[in-house]
Formats: sequence, structure tokens, C-alpha cells
Amino acid sequence: MSPENQPDGGAPTDSLTVTDNRTGQTFELPITDGTVRAMDFRQMKADADDFGLMTYDPAFTNTASCRSAVTFIDGDAGVLEYRGYPIEQLAEKSTYLEVAYLLVYGELPTQPELDEWTHHVTMHTFVHENVKEFVGGFRHDAHPMGMLLGSVGALSTFYPDANEISDPENRLIQAVRLIAKMPTLAAFAFRHTRGQPLVYPDNDLRYPGNFLGMLYKMTELKYEPDPRLERALDILFILHADHEQNCSTNAVRAVGSSQVDPYSAVAAGIGALYGPLHGGANEAVLRMLRRVGTKEDIPAFMKGVKEGDERLMGFGHRVYKNYDPRAKIIKGATEDVFAVTGKNPLLEIATEMEKIALEDEYFVSRKLYPNVDFYSGLIYEALGLPVEMFPVMFAIPRTSGWISQWLEMVVDKEQKIARPRQIYTGARSRDYTEIASR
Ligand code: SDX
Repeated sequence: MSPENQPDGGAPTDSLTVTDNRTGQTFELPITDGTVRAMDFRQMKADADDFGLMTYDPAFTNTASCRSAVTFIDGDAGVLEYRGYPIEQLAEKSTYLEVAYLLVYGELPTQPELDEWTHHVTMHTFVHENVKEFVGGFRHDAHPMGMLLGSVGALSTFYPDANEISDPENRLIQAVRLIAKMPTLAAFAFRHTRGQPLVYPDNDLRYPGNFLGMLYKMTELKYEPDPRLERALDILFILHADHEQNCSTNAVRAVGSSQVDPYSAVAAGIGALYGPLHGGANEAVLRMLRRVGTKEDIPAFMKGVKEGDERLMGFGHRVYKNYDPRAKIIKGATEDVFAVTGKNPLLEIATEMEKIALEDEYFVSRKLYPNVDFYSGLIYEALGLPVEMFPVMFAIPRTSGWISQWLEMVVDKEQKIARPRQIYTGARSRDYTEIASR
């Protein structure tokens, strides 16, 4: 509102003037950071007995749950920054472990800081030998994401002091353990499904190379990762590290708000990421591309999407109403990987689907663009991973984002146990009836 049409002609005030037409009362609600506080509506009552107004926002489509300095996204402009650094620069110039440090500490490390951080993470890649017992207890065809969910939750039993979350030192050692052990647990799950012996971490290797070694090492004395594949994994891990208040981060924050240990909170995040609308989408994309099968079959599939019988997995986003910047970078990385592994024939179908969708009114009008999951699976498949491992590939790097958001939430004075309200739609005050008379 410009000054001249302010009620008293004064300077514009960052506030809402709300009139409750049930009572004629008017309220001034301050606007801060582009938001009004939901609790400011509680004072608006129809009568003295009224509880007061609540806001109703299923799936939190227009609700800020926290203040955060970790990740910035501009969905309309397709901008993604970690601690203010553009994702394009980090993907080109950084490594995953350096980005994990940036997310956790808020600043890029100096060389000594990076060396110490890398040593710290490397020294925590092993898991307790007992972990092998329960990984071995899963069925041969257990989904690796379910195994990861169980394994990470179980880690809390190996570190009972992890619930001392008021101790900053303790918080940090648990953060390092989670970042360090996630690839080990992920690789254990993969090897179990293959009936292959588990491979211990090789602390001479860099983070992505060590993970490749735990996945693929067989009888060779020393696994030597292909540097081009290692670099591609580093980039994929950087791109998946954090994404502000997405579904799984919301789960980590909500569960963490009960002051439980971070292993239990991260296990909740893995559960949320497992879903096909979230981290499970990369698995669903590959299944979709295989089902379409040929470029000639794309139009029929797209027709099914527009008729609501299908969903174009890997497309659309709650925040991005423009091209997901990560999808662009991943698409570029496919060339580097295919130079080593050979081209994935499904890439042609994917690029043709993207071309058709970007020209089709149905998708354009709904601002549906490729998201991070549309191309990533093509790389994972080229690396020899089964589709069931794709969400696991998402969970590994997202651990640094989840733990950074958890660290921020734990010390946020505005936060307390997350406990939303509801609109009650059920029956009231019914008397119990004996079964004979029901
Ligand atoms: C991730 O939040 C994050 O930041 C997540 C993530 C991260 O890094 O953490 O970015 C990672 O989860 C990426 C998203 C991966 N999921 C998928 O690719 C699954 C397919 N996409 C969707 O189902 C959907 O786009 C969501 C879940 C991603 C977003 O859903 P919204 O914001 O709730 O949007 P919506 O479902 O309300 O869709 C709006 C309209 C609807 O049409 P109408 O009912 O208005 O006619 O767009 C349609 C939807 O039907 N639509 C799609 C579609 N996505 C939305 N139609 C066909 N195919 C799709 N993929």
C-alpha cells in the first residue's frame, strides 16, 4: 500500500488490519519477514467462550515452520544456495565433504579445518560389528531403503549418550557419525541384497570413492575408484545435500523437536524420503522410463498423464515453478558418467519426454519442470545400481542437510515440541452401547 492511501496518510506500516465481521472488531497484525504469526489470530473470538481463530493449511503449502539460514530457494527463479553459495558454483568447484562442512558450520572451511573435518569423518566410517548381525537378518529381497531406515534407527542404541542433545560437543560427534556411517550402512544393505560379503570402509579413499569401494570391491586387494565416477558421485551428493524444509527435513525437525536423539530423528527423515513423491521419485522415474520403453510410446503415456491415469515422475515441485537447477547440472553430469559406463539408452526417452512436456500446455500451465529426480536415476543405473538403491543414494548426502537443520532446530529459542492443531470432523459425546444392542 502506498503512503497516500494509508488510513491516516502516515508511512506504510508492515501490518495487516483485520476486521472480524462476526464481532465488528478490528485487529492490527504485524507483518515480519513476509509472514503474520498464526497465534495472532487466536485473539479473534466470536464470543467469550470461543477458543479463537486458528489457521488451516493442510500439507503446510503456505506456512513457515521455522527460521533457517541453511538453504535458500527461489522457486520462481530456479535459484538454490547453500549458506548463500549458488549450487552451480558448489557443484563445479567443491566436494561433498566440504559442502557438508559448509552446511553444518555455515562457512566454507580453511584447508586445516577441511583436513580436520575429513579426518574426523574418515575415522568414523566403521559401524559396530553387531550391525552386521541385523543387516544379515533382513530378507534377501528386502528394499535397501527399508534396511537403511532400520539400521539408522538402530544406531541410536549403540550411542545411548546421543540423547544428551544440550551438549554442543555431543551434538557434533553424532552429526559426524551419521555423515560418516551412512555410506557404510547403505553399502551393507546393497551387498546384503546381492548375497555378497560386506566390505569394510577403506580409509585411504575419499568419501565417494570409499562408498564405491564398499559397493563393488570383490577379490582385488585394493579397490581403485574411477576418478570420473568418483567426481560424478561427489557432484550428485552435493546436489542432494539439502533443500530447506522439504518433506523429510520437516520430519527430522518434527521428530527432533521431542528432544529425541539425532539417529531417531534422521531415521524419520529416511522414512519420509522413501516415499515415491519425495526421494523415492528417482526409483519411480526409472520404472516409468522402462515401462514407456520406446520414444514412439511416449505420446500414449503423456496422454495418460493428462487424463490423470499416470504421473510424470521426476517432474513438478512444491517450490520450483521453474527448472530445478539441480536437474540441469545432473543432466550435464550424465555425459561424464556415460563416457565411462556407456550411454544409458533410457536417456533418449527421458530427453524426448522432457522436450514434449516443456512444449505441452498441460505441463506449462502447471509449471511442471524436471526436478532433481528426473535424470539422477540414469546415472545410478549406469553405475550398476538397482532402482531400489536410488532413494538410498539420495539419503546418503541428504544426511548432512538433515543434521544441519537438526542442529539449527535444537538451539532455536522459538522452537518447542511440534504439535499442530486440527479441525475436528468426527462425532461428539456418544454413549457407549453394549455389543448386543449395536
Ligand atoms: C523431491 O520439497 C523438496 O524440496 C523435495 C526435493 C528435495 O530436494 O528434498 O526437491 C526432492 O522430492 C523432488 C520431487 C520428487 N517427486 C516427484 O517427481 C513425483 C512427481 N511429482 C509430484 O507428485 C509433484 O509435483 C510434487 C509432489 C513434487 C509436488 O506436488 P504439489 O506441490 O503438491 O503439487 P500438486 O500435486 O498440487 O500439483 C499441482 C498440479 C496438479 O494438477 P491439478 O490437480 O491442479 O489439475 O500439477 C499436477 C497435479 O496433478 N502435477 C502433476 C505432476 N506434479 C504435479 N501432473 C503430472 N505429473 C506430475 N509429476
